Amino acid sequence: MSSLKTDILKLLSNHEHISGQKLADELEVSRTAVWKAVQNLKSEGYIIESVQNKGYLLKEKTSHINHSALLNMVEYSRHFDVLHFKESIDSTQLLAKSLINRTDEQFIVVALEQTAGRGRFNRPWASPKNNGLYISIVLKPDISLSEIIRFNLFMSLAISEALDQSFNIESGIKWPNDIYINDKKVCGFLTEVLSEDHHVTSIICGIGINLFDNDYLKSLGTATSIENESGKGNINIEHFLSTFISKIDEYYELFLSSSFDIIKKDWIERSIIFGKTIRITEMTRTYYGKPVDITDDGFLVVIDEEGETHKVISADIEL
Ligand code: BTN
Repeated sequence: MSSLKTDILKLLSNHEHISGQKLADELEVSRTAVWKAVQNLKSEGYIIESVQNKGYLLKEKTSHINHSALLNMVEYSRHFDVLHFKESIDSTQLLAKSLINRTDEQFIVVALEQTAGRGRFNRPWASPKNNGLYISIVLKPDISLSEIIRFNLFMSLAISEALDQSFNIESGIKWPNDIYINDKKVCGFLTEVLSEDHHVTSIICGIGINLFDNDYLKSLGTATSIENESGKGNINIEHFLSTFISKIDEYYELFLSSSFDIIKKDWIERSIIFGKTIRITEMTRTYYGKPVDITDDGFLVVIDEEGETHKVISADIEL
């Protein structure tokens, strides 16, 4: 983004209203330059209102969330009974877990900020206010524990497709739990399970999506945001959630009724690791290899540099 547009956004964010003349004076450019930059920002999706005698007003980047619209979304869902929405929370996973035993329902928790978000391997998951979307879904399928890896494959496809459809982007799956755009992570998810005697009683799947850029994401160098990749400054969370819920419904139903075979072709097409040499870190070792297949039960088949074949079930993968 040009530095003029960035400077204008900064000033707009710090003022209720600011006139074109004041912007021009502060930034030492002509009013025409300001006007052009504002038009460009609008075409990129920023919502900037021009109010007579007052000046420009930058509306929030996330569209206002209408709570009753969120409830209607689950009304039409085939699998979810309730959606809990929180502006801020410690972690959607923690709230989901605390609600599980109080109800037989399957439900969704959505938050705009987490103060104690956690990722895989219990790593902190930075969840600043209005920068991302933090979701936990709770499902209670009648399945054995060994089916969880297959569940993860179905969910990764559902999440990636929902992001693409909502934001007009082309995301890919980085096995096992990441969604990438242009070689950078835009979303991570984790699947936690409650079980009894190797039988699943509940699945709590937590999904964190980077909606907007912030200094922390930039400092990582390996992460990106929907805003960055779609070029859109305004993101409609309601629209995304409605697409997300119907995608999860669709793929959860497929998961319950079918083997991985039914989505294998689509999954492989979306995978970003085939044909590349990747670094695989398991509990006790690290090695390099090329993924050649994914099995029906979710193992990644990798051939290492010595030509040995490995079936990988859980690992950190680096491209
Ligand atoms: C990863 O490590 O890549 C997975 C990140 C999962 C983060 C999500 S955000 C919503 C839910 N609540 C949490 O505390 N964690 C998950």
